[in-house]
Amino acid sequence: MYQIDTQCVHSSRCPKAAYGSLTTPIFQSATFAHEGLDIASEYSYSRLQNPTRAALENRIAELEGGLDAIAFSSGMAAETTLMNLFESQGHIIAGDDLYGGTLRLFRHISTPAGLRFDFTDTTVLENIRNRLQHDTKAIYVETPSNPTMQVTDIAAVAEIAHTAGALLIVDNTFLSPFFQRPLELGADIVVHSGTKYLGGHNDTLSGFLVMKEQRISDQLRYHAKTVGACLAPFDCFLLERGIKTLAIRLEKQAANAAKIANWLQQRPEVRKVYYIGFPDHPGYAISQRQCSGFGGMLSMELDAPETARRILREVKLFQYAESLGGVDSLITYPMCQTHADVPEEERLKRGINDRFLRISVGIENAADLIEDLRQALEKKQ
Ligand SMILES: Cc1ncc(COP(=O)(O)O)c(C=O)c1O
Repeated sequence: MYQIDTQCVHSSRCPKAAYGSLTTPIFQSATFAHEGLDIASEYSYSRLQNPTRAALENRIAELEGGLDAIAFSSGMAAETTLMNLFESQGHIIAGDDLYGGTLRLFRHISTPAGLRFDFTDTTVLENIRNRLQHDTKAIYVETPSNPTMQVTDIAAVAEIAHTAGALLIVDNTFLSPFFQRPLELGADIVVHSGTKYLGGHNDTLSGFLVMKEQRISDQLRYHAKTVGACLAPFDCFLLERGIKTLAIRLEKQAANAAKIANWLQQRPEVRKVYYIGFPDHPGYAISQRQCSGFGGMLSMELDAPETARRILREVKLFQYAESLGGVDSLITYPMCQTHADVPEEERLKRGINDRFLRISVGIENAADLIEDLRQALEKKQ
């Protein structure tokens, strides 16, 4: 088995393409003809499967150390399809610091459909144990979480889940398989917004579910072909192209993020930096065990709402935009973007206030990025 940076470029699970083509051809076909009545071709209809998508799914499964992966048109499409696995019955324990769209799905779509959710701080294992019920079907965590960068111990939660007969589902969007492989730590299903680090260029949406058990894979493929939110062939091509540079992008993004986090920490306008690479981060010891790098994400709490607004107004390299993980550095105002739908009281309890900004560090020069933040912070009114 090759190392992950080699796997990003050469997936051993992708068959050689025709004519020795190094890239997987874009099979832009909705349907596939069969040679005869009893001679079915390998593919039949692109909602079920498509050769370009199959190559991408093989690559993702290999990177995550899974048996199978399914590619969806967005991360939310993947999560919505995933919820069908529970057939509207049972109980799920979920982290309380999740991406706002995931919270919206769980609260406003899956709950009215019949699932029961308990949201809790999953960094505290006792919180999870105390919430287990006779019909707990899954524990759902994001680690690090979005946007306050809480770290949950995947192996420990997997043990709790399995003892209770539940599945552990981990959203691995923030670190990607380059830095963290939850299936190897005991998780049963990995979720991705492939829009982020996997795609890496802010040019397409995508989502993935990665499974390690045949039974779960069969069930999810059944739901995937029924829901039909599959990733289009051209977007599969973009994802595959993005993944080839995942390793070098993430190394640069992580190195840049460490420099920016350290610099921000020295600034008088910055009250707190949320970054998992700080030795005093509560999850630091767990991160050292369960991931091989600290990623390119950080958040910060500023001294005043005006400082947050000044940064958003004055930055030139950083773009004020939702999303994360791409080559361009972005700043997000979670309160009015990614987490706008989270009830105010809950948002404030987690520190997501009008002084809180999230940064997705790109691959630009770190000194230029720091200079951009400095000039924005020091800009006179
Ligand atoms: C951690 C996380 N999971 C899932 C999603 C949803 O993904 P998508 O926007 O591709 O639907 C996002 C989107 O920001 C996210 O940040």
